[in-house]
Amino acid sequence: MTYDGPSLDPGSAYRWSVRVEDETDGVAIASDWFETTYLSRTTRAGHWITVDERETQPQDPPDFRGLSWRAGLLPAPLLLRKSFHLRAAVARARLLVTARGLYRAQINGARVGADELTPGWTDYRVHQRYQTYDITSLVREGRNAIGVELAHGWWSGYVGFDPRQPAVHYGNSPHLWAQLVVEMIDGEHLQCATDETWNVSTGDRVYADLLIGEYVDRRLDPGAWSSPDFDDASWRPARAVGSDLDHLRSSIEPHVRVVRRLRGRYVASAAHKHIYDFGQNLTGRVRLALPALPKGTRILLRHGEMLDEDGSVYVANLRNAEATDVWISAGLSDTFEPTFTTHGFRFVEISGLEDPLAEDAVSAAVMSNDVEWTGSVETSHDGVNRLLSNIEWSLRGNLVAVPTDCPQRDERLGWLGDAGAFMPTAAFLTDARSFWARWLQDVRATQTEEGAYKDIAPHISTFFPDSAAPGWGDAGVIIPWELYRRWGDRRILADSFDSMRRWVDYVYRNNPDLLWQRRRGNDYGDWLERTPTPRELLATAYWAYSTRLVSHTASELGCPEESAIYAELAEKLARSFEESFVSREGRVGSGSQGGYALAVAFDLIPHELMPSVKKQFDESIAAAGGKLTTGIITTSLLLTALTRAGRTATAYQLLEARDFPSWLYLVEQGATTMWERWDGWTATGGFQNPEMNSFNHYALGGIGRWIFETVGGIQQTESSRGYGQLLITPEPGGTLSSSRARFMSRRGQIATSWNLNGSVFSLEVEVPPTSTATIMLPGWGTGRQVASGVHRFESNLEQPSV
Ligand code: BGC
Repeated sequence: MTYDGPSLDPGSAYRWSVRVEDETDGVAIASDWFETTYLSRTTRAGHWITVDERETQPQDPPDFRGLSWRAGLLPAPLLLRKSFHLRAAVARARLLVTARGLYRAQINGARVGADELTPGWTDYRVHQRYQTYDITSLVREGRNAIGVELAHGWWSGYVGFDPRQPAVHYGNSPHLWAQLVVEMIDGEHLQCATDETWNVSTGDRVYADLLIGEYVDRRLDPGAWSSPDFDDASWRPARAVGSDLDHLRSSIEPHVRVVRRLRGRYVASAAHKHIYDFGQNLTGRVRLALPALPKGTRILLRHGEMLDEDGSVYVANLRNAEATDVWISAGLSDTFEPTFTTHGFRFVEISGLEDPLAEDAVSAAVMSNDVEWTGSVETSHDGVNRLLSNIEWSLRGNLVAVPTDCPQRDERLGWLGDAGAFMPTAAFLTDARSFWARWLQDVRATQTEEGAYKDIAPHISTFFPDSAAPGWGDAGVIIPWELYRRWGDRRILADSFDSMRRWVDYVYRNNPDLLWQRRRGNDYGDWLERTPTPRELLATAYWAYSTRLVSHTASELGCPEESAIYAELAEKLARSFEESFVSREGRVGSGSQGGYALAVAFDLIPHELMPSVKKQFDESIAAAGGKLTTGIITTSLLLTALTRAGRTATAYQLLEARDFPSWLYLVEQGATTMWERWDGWTATGGFQNPEMNSFNHYALGGIGRWIFETVGGIQQTESSRGYGQLLITPEPGGTLSSSRARFMSRRGQIATSWNLNGSVFSLEVEVPPTSTATIMLPGWGTGRQVASGVHRFESNLEQPSV
């Protein structure tokens, strides 16, 4: 339902309620409330503030032992504070705050909110997000103080594989903007925004960087610096650096937070180095509960995803990400947990302590955008369940401000190809619409005049050519469409349509002969594939698919003429694909699995050729000894294509295979997340090349979609949006004897639960209100229609009925 009434006032709370009555006189009422942003563009005030470089105090360099020179280049985060007086008791108070960099705010000594790494990473040149916090309970009549710590983060810290700090993407020192709005009980307002009356200094954080780590010297602790009584006489006035607030926008997505904590398990010690295992590869940081240690005791934490053969923490694959935190004792008991960094790790090595800490003193804070988790599948197969868990954890670990490729090495970039391949799976696991919608703004911001997207968003470096690679740029079309199909929210299409169309137009302009030969950017092909799929084939397949989605989008948005134009182009592209890459015998391209996956999943094969294509598809699997040869792009399509080709049995064989390379091979190696490469580590070869060997890359987890749709059987008809018309088509296979799947759609929960007992297949299905479903059981010739509710069915696989 879309609100269609008069426009809302700023800074106002609104309550809504919806009452639904059904034909049985049943009544359901839902209500909630929300608040509009406090500041319209015209009432925003204040300046961006930072430290006056001329006023910075000399500082001792950090103690370099165990660190590289790069760490020594990092300036200290800033502390900024301001005292203010409130004449009367407070009715309500809000803090609006953001940074060019990362911030954490305190009021009167108490932390504001629980969000981490705020304001997140956006293309700051185009849009900057600010957060609003309810601080009514933190301020009081009389004297108050606000303190904000400000670190470099993505704005001016190390970013990606750019070796420079600052990486000259945005700026070289962090800036803060904040505005307090306090309404007192007598109706009077106080507004207090950042300006040169704020004071600035540094504290006990010697440096903090997303990739390098954090260094805290507790001997430098300034004390309760955000309390009203703190004496900041020695601090310097902040310097105002402009008041361009026009591109500030209110945050729309769930922020990064500590979403859970895992306890460490002590593994081993050697030479005062103690290793702990959190049992799970994760993104976040370690918390240590420390006893009073002699002043100056220096503890160093190194993080890694694996253990090396000699039992040490493996860090070679982190490249330039040092992922090392340092804590120096002030002689008091303490809790150490960094604030402005994250690491991708399962193991931590703690050095500097004679004896290991007790296990309950070592925990890991798991960090991720705090989105709603909406889907799960549990089967009778432990390996498949572990695979599902690994997929889920790779998503969790790569939802960190943007959808990253990996969370550990010096990369952590919003690669479009990985996101496009994995997003159909992610959209079962989570309702992250606002997260994707916000990131899509950055994707659109990369688009050139000509219409080309870039490979990564936010775009940060001229390292990337003017055009995204095929399959990478297409994520700019695929993601909005998938979001719309899943959630039925047309706004996302409306926001993206122009950009989606410009992308396919751009490819067309450069390739009028209907084969994508020119302007393929870095042309990664089916990256990390084992048997190459011709790049022109992959490119043309994606172009045809994107063009079809643009046609569908135009139609959804009520533009039939445009829809027809793109439908015609998509059809021509499909024919061009067929003529160029599909032989009369049904062979696609070079006969690689990736070629069949693309052709079948994107529906590029004419009906009459399908039987021979299916045979050749079988052949491509058999020729590889029943093993996968696909790369990060087509692996996500392979099983879906096999099922479409009526080869679900083969899909199950691949799913259940345990030999290298396979999904369960990773599981057998003890993986707790998806790996970047099938051979990240093998018993015979050890670790793959550390230059590119992540153990937390979600792309190969794109199989998740097939598990939901084919094992769980949760699908919707071609014309359905937001799961209005379900297609419940579970297909048992392999050694699986049961499955329970659920997906919390916007209409309510969709759930399937099936058992295979001998040849008897029984299914229980839950269809949410306002949805209808066509149920298709194995062994049935035709589907059965049902309305919302819980239904049970049975079929006998050995006695097909009609
Ligand atoms: C990333 C990938 C990405 C690729 C481009 C890698 O370094 O980690 O996942 O898509 O580059 O080929």
